[in-house]
Amino acid sequence: MRTKIYKINSDAVDLGRIREAAEIIRNGGLVAFPTETVYGLGADAQNPDASRKIYAAKGRPSDNPLIVHISRFADLRRIAEEVPGEAERLADAFWPGPLTMIVKKNAAVPCETTGGLDTVAVRMPKHPIALALIRESGRLIAAPSANTSGRPSPTLAAHVAADLEGRIPMILDGGEVGIGIESTIIDLTEEIPVILRPGYITEAMLKKAVGTVRTDPGILSADSGIRPKAPGMRYRHYAPKAELVVVDGEREAVIQRINDLTERMQAHGKRVGIIGTDETAAAYRGDVIRSIGSREDEEAIAKHLYRILREFDEDQADIIYSESFATPRMGQAIMNRLLKAAGHQVLSV
Ligand code: TXA
Ligand code: MG
Repeated sequence: MRTKIYKINSDAVDLGRIREAAEIIRNGGLVAFPTETVYGLGADAQNPDASRKIYAAKGRPSDNPLIVHISRFADLRRIAEEVPGEAERLADAFWPGPLTMIVKKNAAVPCETTGGLDTVAVRMPKHPIALALIRESGRLIAAPSANTSGRPSPTLAAHVAADLEGRIPMILDGGEVGIGIESTIIDLTEEIPVILRPGYITEAMLKKAVGTVRTDPGILSADSGIRPKAPGMRYRHYAPKAELVVVDGEREAVIQRINDLTERMQAHGKRVGIIGTDETAAAYRGDVIRSIGSREDEEAIAKHLYRILREFDEDQADIIYSESFATPRMGQAIMNRLLKAAGHQVLSV
């Protein structure tokens, strides 16, 4: 299959191209498109065959449910068995935006889309291309991140093409995404809303909107022995080809330790990659050194993480050492992804 790749200007969306993409969705096909978090791989959420195509293209386990993307709040009522009061308050505060809500589903949503669960994940994205595609298709769009299962989520259309070119009919290229890590997921089917995946919308922000909120203990630490509730959070995601080790501590001690480890590895003929920051990159002596951005700018750190992990796959590092990025606001979301990529290998110095 030849994959059409269309560049679309997010500030002046070319509706002709969007209509062509919408036609593919209506006919049960797949279109990759940008959202404000990461690129998604979209299909008609109410067409079981279309959902199956998503799983096949990604190589995704069929028990890992998809997020249904909508363009107006009224569509939540069309697919939810009941819309809890919190959903309205959260939508007022954060939709369109990087928040996914889990609610009880009704019969309008096929089990193929929800991995057999009786709940459904719903999000109204903010990206103008995503919203235009949903509206023009006249459908609800099921979309996981547009990567091959197990690879980092795509933050550029080139990442989507690297994973899926030849397997899907169309990629809408809207340039680099704004946030760079996937949406926050909040489960509204329990007594107290539960965060199943941390993201740009933090626990503090959610509490302000709905009062009490808790975080799924399954995502807080690797060795808690508690299974995360979101099926996708149980898999070892985002694993780079090289071994990845996070080194945590005071800045100077981290630099010293990473340089010591680097010297030892290089003496064994190993090629060493390092993930540092604008402030520290010059102090390292690895073979490939990448700065994730300034430590003062946590939004840049979130936005660059997946691209940097992908870049290391290209240049054949044997081992990668990364600084830790437990930044004040998005630190939990960033470290959740980084630690998963590292298989929870952390050295504290
Ligand atoms: O930012 C995002 O959310 C991106 C963009 C494309 O919208 N999408 C995304 O989708 O990250 P995906 O499929 O990569 O991650 C969806 C996560 C998985 O961990 C999945 O297990 C969880 O949401 N999920 C979906 N439906 C669920 C449900 N009914 N109950 C619990 N977890 C659910
Ligand atoms: Mg994903």
